[in-house]
Amino acid sequence: MGIKRIGILTSGGDSPGMNAALRAATRYAIKMDLEVYGVSRGFAGILDEEIAPLTYKDVAGTMERGGTILRTARCPEFKVAQVREEAADKLRKHGIEALIIIGGDGSLTGAALLNDDHGIPCVGIPGSIDNDIYGTDMSIGVDTCLNTVMEAIQKLKDTASSHERAFIVEVMGRECGYIAMMAGIITGAEAAVIPEIPIDYDKLAERLLEERKRGKINTIIVVAEGAASAYTVARHLEHRIGYETRITILGHVQRGGSPSAFDRIIATRMGLHAVKSIMEGHYGVMIGLQAQGMALVPFSDVLTKKKKLNMDLYDISYLLS
Ligand code: ADP
Ligand code: F6P
Repeated sequence: MGIKRIGILTSGGDSPGMNAALRAATRYAIKMDLEVYGVSRGFAGILDEEIAPLTYKDVAGTMERGGTILRTARCPEFKVAQVREEAADKLRKHGIEALIIIGGDGSLTGAALLNDDHGIPCVGIPGSIDNDIYGTDMSIGVDTCLNTVMEAIQKLKDTASSHERAFIVEVMGRECGYIAMMAGIITGAEAAVIPEIPIDYDKLAERLLEERKRGKINTIIVVAEGAASAYTVARHLEHRIGYETRITILGHVQRGGSPSAFDRIIATRMGLHAVKSIMEGHYGVMIGLQAQGMALVPFSDVLTKKKKLNMDLYDISYLLS
C-alpha cells in the first residue's frame, strides 16, 4: 500500500523561498491524492504536536512571501535519541507516514537520524542562505540573500566614494564564506575575508594602499561573520591604511524578503521532487540541484543545435496553479 499522509516542516534558520517549496510540495501531494499535514515550528512542533492539515488554499499567495508560514525553531533537545523516538511516536500517532524537512545542515542531520534510527521515512530540501549544504549547487534562499547583500553594498559604495572611505561589511556565514566570497565578486569588493582562508592584514593593507595610489576612491571589504567581526578587521586595518573606515553589519536583513525568481523556481522544483521521491519510495535523501559547472561548447554545436524548452517545467506551472 502506498503512502497516504505526509508531513512537512521548516526548521533551523529561515530562508526566502521556503514557502514556495512548501506550496509546491503541498499542492503536488494533494493532486497526487495524498493528505498533507503541516508541522509548525520545526522539530519542536512535532514534540508539541502542532500538526494540522494543510489544504490547497492554505498555501495560496505564499510563494512570494519571505520567511516561513509554518514558522521555524531551533530544537536542541532533538539531538537526544529518546526525544527523537518520542517525536517519531507522535508522528505515527498523527498518521504521518513520511516527512519532508526543509532546512539547513542541522535540520537535515535531524532528518537523517529520524529516517535511519526511528523509522520515519524522510526527504530533505536544502533551505539555508549559507549555501554550505553538500550535494546541491544552490540552497533555497541563497540567491535572494545575495541580491539583498548586493543592493546594500552597492549603496555603501556610493557613500564610500563620496567620502573616500573604507567600508567593512559583515555578512552572515558562521562556518562558510560563500556569501562573503560571492558578494565580493558581484560588487567588485577589494577583498572577502572568509573562514576558509586565514587573513594576512599586512598584505591586505598593502594592496588597498596600492589601489588608492592608482586612483581608487572607495574600499569595500566583505567579511564573513565566522572569519572575524567587522570591528576586528577594521581595528587591524585602520592604522595600517590610515584612511577613515566605517562598519556595517548587515545581519538578519539577509534572511528576509520576497524570494527571487531563481529561488522560487528551485524551491518549486524541489518541493515537487520531494513528494515524487516519497511516492517512488526513495527516502533518506535530499533533493539537490546539480551540475552548474562551466563547459566548453563548440560553436558548431551552439549554432546548429536547438535548445529545447524543458517541458517538465511547463507541466509544473500547469499543475500547481
Ligand atoms: P540549520 O538547519 O539551519 O542548519 P541548526 O543547525 O540550528 O539550523 O539546526 C536546526 C535544528 O536541527 C536544531 O535545532 C535541531 O533540532 C536539529 N539538529 C541539528 N543538529 C542535530 C543533530 N546533530 N542531531 C539531531 N538533530 C539536530
Ligand atoms: O544558518 C543560517 C544563519 O543565518 C547563519 O548564517 C547565521 O550565522 C545564523 O543562521 C544566525 O542564526 P540566528 O537566526 O539564530 O541568529
